[in-house]
Amino acid sequence: MILPIVTHPNPVLRQKAQPIKRITKRIKKLAENMLETMYAAEGVGLAGPQVGVGERIIVIDIGNGPLVLINPQILAKSGQDRDVEGCLSIPGQSAYVTRAAKVKVTGVDLDGRQVELEGEGYLARAFQHEIDHLDGVLFIDYLDKSPRSSSDSD
Ligand code: NI
Repeated sequence: MILPIVTHPNPVLRQKAQPIKRITKRIKKLAENMLETMYAAEGVGLAGPQVGVGERIIVIDIGNGPLVLINPQILAKSGQDRDVEGCLSIPGQSAYVTRAAKVKVTGVDLDGRQVELEGEGYLARAFQHEIDHLDGVLFIDYLDKSPRSSSDSD
């Protein structure tokens, strides 16, 4: 089932999502619906709050197959990578964002197993972007909001 995607500035996007205690049927169905919603929107990742669910679940597919991670956490980051990023909750906007180039992530899969994953490049970016959503952080928060510099206008 395709779920409605919540867009900025809906407050659910700014709330800290809650840990998931048990992989229930409801969570499995949610993961399935989130993947379907992400594919329909031609996105590469989606987090619970983006479908109005304040729980710590993310789905990602950067072209290598679907990935579902419950209660994901970044264990380690290294390097730096600057690339263009967008978000299904902020339609029509994209910008360069500097992120770690490589991350090691842990979380629980749909079978309830603790897993550890490593990502590089765009996958690392997707992990960081989606996990940020669980903490109420959006990619636009990283953009330089300062005016072009006050001296430009005189
Ligand atoms: Ni996003």
